[in-house]
Amino acid sequence: MLLCAALSATVLASAAQSALAQGQTVSAAMTAQPAGMEVARADMRMRVTALTDDILRVTIGRDGTMPEDASWAVSPEMRDREARVTPASDGFSTATMRVTFADGRLTVTDMSGAVITQDAPNSVTLDGSAFTLRKAMPQSERYFGMGDKTGGMDRRGKSFVNWNTDAFGFSSADDPIYKSIPFFIGVGGAGGSYGIFLDNTWRTWFDFGHKEEGVLSFGGPDGPIDYYIINGPSTAEVVRRYTDLTGKAPLTPQWALGYQQSRYSYMSAEEVRDVAARLRAERIPTDVMWLDIDFQDRNRPFTVNTKTFPDLPGLIEDLGDDGMKVITITDLHIAAAPNEGYTPYETGTAGDHWVKRADGQTYVAPVWPGPSVFPDFTQESTRDWWGALFEEQLDWGVAGAWNDMNEPAIFETPTKTMPLDNVHRIASDDFAPRTATQLEMHNVYGMENTRATYDGLRTLRPDERAYVMTRASYAGGQRYSVTWTGDNTASWDHLKLSIQQIINLGLSGFSYSGADVSGFGGGPSADLLTRWFQIGAFYPVFRNHSAKDTPRVEPWVDGPEHLAIRRRFIEERYRLMPYLYGLAELNARTGDPILRPVFYDYPGALNAACDQSWTFTVGGAMLVAPPPKPESPQQYDVCLPAGGWYDYWTGLPAGEPAADQDDAPILSATQATGGPRVPSSIVRETPRLDHLPIFVRAGTILPRQAVVQSLSETPAGPLMLDVYPGEDCRGTLYADDGHSMAFQQGGYVRQELTCTVTPEGVSIDIGAREGRFSPWWQQIAVTVHGWDGTAEVRQGRRTLDSRSDAATRTVGFTFDAPSRPTEITVARN
Ligand code: GLC
Repeated sequence: MLLCAALSATVLASAAQSALAQGQTVSAAMTAQPAGMEVARADMRMRVTALTDDILRVTIGRDGTMPEDASWAVSPEMRDREARVTPASDGFSTATMRVTFADGRLTVTDMSGAVITQDAPNSVTLDGSAFTLRKAMPQSERYFGMGDKTGGMDRRGKSFVNWNTDAFGFSSADDPIYKSIPFFIGVGGAGGSYGIFLDNTWRTWFDFGHKEEGVLSFGGPDGPIDYYIINGPSTAEVVRRYTDLTGKAPLTPQWALGYQQSRYSYMSAEEVRDVAARLRAERIPTDVMWLDIDFQDRNRPFTVNTKTFPDLPGLIEDLGDDGMKVITITDLHIAAAPNEGYTPYETGTAGDHWVKRADGQTYVAPVWPGPSVFPDFTQESTRDWWGALFEEQLDWGVAGAWNDMNEPAIFETPTKTMPLDNVHRIASDDFAPRTATQLEMHNVYGMENTRATYDGLRTLRPDERAYVMTRASYAGGQRYSVTWTGDNTASWDHLKLSIQQIINLGLSGFSYSGADVSGFGGGPSADLLTRWFQIGAFYPVFRNHSAKDTPRVEPWVDGPEHLAIRRRFIEERYRLMPYLYGLAELNARTGDPILRPVFYDYPGALNAACDQSWTFTVGGAMLVAPPPKPESPQQYDVCLPAGGWYDYWTGLPAGEPAADQDDAPILSATQATGGPRVPSSIVRETPRLDHLPIFVRAGTILPRQAVVQSLSETPAGPLMLDVYPGEDCRGTLYADDGHSMAFQQGGYVRQELTCTVTPEGVSIDIGAREGRFSPWWQQIAVTVHGWDGTAEVRQGRRTLDSRSDAATRTVGFTFDAPSRPTEITVARN
């Protein structure tokens, strides 16, 4: 069938007779291909290949030459995939999409004909080595992704450039900043959500209707015209498929979900010990201490200042005994220090690993260590050499690596980076070996730095998960590292921006990210710092960090009242650890972000009546609604998606005041009109510094644990399950050893949980244990919310003791953790 269709489709596409470039008549011939089609016109060839039913790759060759089939972001296995397609005279279809070329435009629809994405007139323009692609931009569509770019959540009406930049003190409108992820998701169009990923490492740009109303254009000065169209129709499906394409973030070590304490810099081992001791004395749960550049000898990577850190392994061991890991910074610049016995410089020079100038000499430029040289991470051999340098750090007991300044940042130059004609030597993956300028390699340099580190750590310690944090990266960088948003500022504006950045990073594959809690530059007011701790407690990466010469920002700095609030939120994160870790594991399999925009799980929220500019969910089931004007005491409304919600803090259905509250803090439309006591859809909040409104979806089983001071401790008591009855009621239990790779060989336990609202009450189903890991909990303590009266609780033929509480409207009971499928019924009596 494919063959004869190929013949019949070798026609002059009549519609393609029309103008492709203004004022020109260009004829285009279409040919069917095994998994797609090819369109040719005088100056270019466009190939559209269905890699899967829902992912199309579009490559455009100039003057008959197709771009090299190689990529830093997409593996050869993915690029080689071919879906079964059904050819047609004007294109082809997959099981879910129709792809046509007519009137010089590529159109992708779903099977009902609803447009997913369509070219605009003058769809492809070539101008020397530069190119511009143009797509139609429906009124209803909004745009997300593009990594941690500033400018609010929605990209519509804005224009962006991809150029990794050391953006110290960036404002909430500055562009470009640290990362380049040329990927966006269109949400709200007729055919549902879709994504476009332009796999081009040059200085590409994206314009979402800023230059020209109703036209979404993107392009670059050079490099391959190679992009992917990713079908949804849900946003979640787009993200899952984008991470099928560019890779999933590996499962994090669990300790990295704990609270992390950093400073530029803790200047001595003594200071690190003091801070760690204070964290313990104040009972502030903490899992990681970070060492910034000053722990090194003269800022030289892979060294230690032995005057101020006389026994780093001893320090790491002692902190380890106290349940704290140590992560050290290792920037990529290597001090140009010949004949000083500085091994990285000596071995790197002997191995010819440095980036060159245009004249062939080694490029030397100032960064933290003074004159420095720069590994050419575009060579596999250089990455291997770099990775092996971490052996000594691992021997000291270092738990993870922090790769900073990898845009790369260069001091004393207005461009803040290398000369653009610097020379890299590509010898990697399926690229043909060749030289490439910094102009081409700039945006991917930071990612290849993290790749070298990640692969090095994995090779040196194959049984352990590797943990790397980076500032710069490119699409697909989530395979190697987590990230943070760089040198932010202690302002309300930045606190809000951080959530928008983390949301868009999560939609762009980087599910693990955070912003410096407190702001790196400047100094936060006590209120701002407290709010930052509250909100940071829900960042996927929760790290307090601040710059030299700024006021200290550890949790205790503003006195006991502020400390009490900050501690309470840090503790809450630890209580939620079973839920968070389950989300991390889900993310490793699916790509679903941990911190999400509300519309990820509730598409209607895109058009909510409330200001949702930084409302977010943690894993879909927990909705966190900070005041939209964080510095203002004004009341505000929170729109809760349909289906019912509970207040996380009181445990009561949203809309019900707690028993000890005389003034109803919440307006419930349904209650106000005398309707049934059901969760309301809009609640009104009055900002209070000690409170952050959080809601749980009715239909959630939320696993929690007792507070621990670090994740190396076994929680006391049972695993807790909070059951919030509602439709499609579910939850997951997941556990493994938290640090090794054994989970890949069955060393984990997963149990799916469901609940059903019955005429008598609720029934809870605990699925069979999958995997062979024995979790820490022996018992499970259930709290069912929204319960009135007493209950009879039965597990099979056994009746379990239960306690009802009229004030909190709960019923609670405890039972031995089952490994077999178990049903528990809770009935009113
Ligand atoms: C950069 C980093 C910052 C770090 C500092 C010193 O500014 O963004 O986080 O503290 O360098 O290493």
